Amino acid sequence: MKILVVGGGGREHAIIKKIKENKEVTEIFALPGNGGIAQDATCVNIGAKDIENIVKFALDNSIDYAVVAPDDPLVLGCVDALQEKGIPCFGPDAKAAIIEGSKVFSKNLMKKYNIPTAQYEVFDDMEKAIEYLQTAPIPTVIKADGLALGKGVIIANTREEAIDAVHSMMEDKVFGDSGNNVVIEEFLTGPEVSVLSFTDGKTVVPMVSSMDHKRALDNDEGLNTGGMGTVAPNPYYTDAVAKECMEKIFLPTMNAMNSEGRTFKGCLYFGLMLTPNGPKVIEYNCRFGDPETQVVLPLLESDLLTVMQAVTNETLADIEVKFADKSACCVIMASNGYPKSYDKGFEMTIPADINDNVYVAGAKLSDGKLLTDGGRVLGATAIADTLEDAIKKSYNMVENIKFENAYYRKDIGKKALMAKEG
Ligand code: AMP
Ligand code: GLY
Repeated sequence: MKILVVGGGGREHAIIKKIKENKEVTEIFALPGNGGIAQDATCVNIGAKDIENIVKFALDNSIDYAVVAPDDPLVLGCVDALQEKGIPCFGPDAKAAIIEGSKVFSKNLMKKYNIPTAQYEVFDDMEKAIEYLQTAPIPTVIKADGLALGKGVIIANTREEAIDAVHSMMEDKVFGDSGNNVVIEEFLTGPEVSVLSFTDGKTVVPMVSSMDHKRALDNDEGLNTGGMGTVAPNPYYTDAVAKECMEKIFLPTMNAMNSEGRTFKGCLYFGLMLTPNGPKVIEYNCRFGDPETQVVLPLLESDLLTVMQAVTNETLADIEVKFADKSACCVIMASNGYPKSYDKGFEMTIPADINDNVYVAGAKLSDGKLLTDGGRVLGATAIADTLEDAIKKSYNMVENIKFENAYYRKDIGKKALMAKEG
């Protein structure tokens, strides 16, 4: 079987390594992939948003199955375009991907179907938003409606900050058209949990839970990033919480999307906060999380391609999706300076004995050398019987991976360990 994976980060590397385990897979193409992914797939320089050329490539190369991983192509209808040409895909169509593509849509969906989330107001008029902020409870959370590279959320601790955020989104358009509408919502507190799930619109199968570390610096300080590390499972996500989430959030969301004529097929990501008033949805993503995928998929014992095909064929209920009863930790190595400006182009050395456990996010090949080429450069994932050992093992790996200008957080998994120890 010839497989095509759209995307080119650490998440896509993890998906590709897992798909490769299937014996029927003869070739995997990554569009565009990256210098590290090139060890596991044929990388072709077609951008993830270049839908026309993605479809052309798939047809020219007789692709049997496509996985569309990033949010942009999903929201832009990449799955629709591939399916129109008869290519089976993993990922939601554009109608369903709106669950991530528009926060106004997802908030209104949750309100309509009584799915627990932060209270909110939507504004398309800046003056009205500012007027509302004069008396809104502080802290408050301002969210740009559309995709904003994970940066469209501002937690405002003062009224001035909140008003500034509205100005920058609605007037200065720092997130472009994504800021035409803003959601202003209640500030929630509690531990955060990421739950990725497989769903075919009939069944929803949650994967092992995980915990992201979004801030750039230790102790959750510094700027928000795409994610500096993950652990799985998330100790806050007990069996009781899982049961409550299934009843109040996961199934109601799947059913709500069906009722709206927007059946979601693919990986539906629930970003949850376990508040004193129960679990609430912070955000939905229409795709695998990054770097959650780098801890979740290594724990998957079932064959990923088989599970993905079951989602496509709507036969998810008939197969088993099994995860190892172990822990995983992924530490992200970034370029110093990320998420602001940073230097790149430094040669990387990854010891051969740990190469299988490294997921490359930002690197390019030049004269046979692997050079850093992004903010997040790679993630090193370790699996162990205990979380403590998984953390130790992944830091051991990171210490043996060398490139100039490397930066990583030293406390990935610390909060989870403390939660475990009570
Ligand atoms: P997002 O980009 O949607 O993942 O949001 C980034 C981060 O903002 C989340 O991981 C939360 O930590 C935080 N956040 C988003 N919405 C809220 C909220 N209503 N209350 C408190 N924190 C929030
Ligand atoms: N790690 C969060 C995300 O993928 O959006």
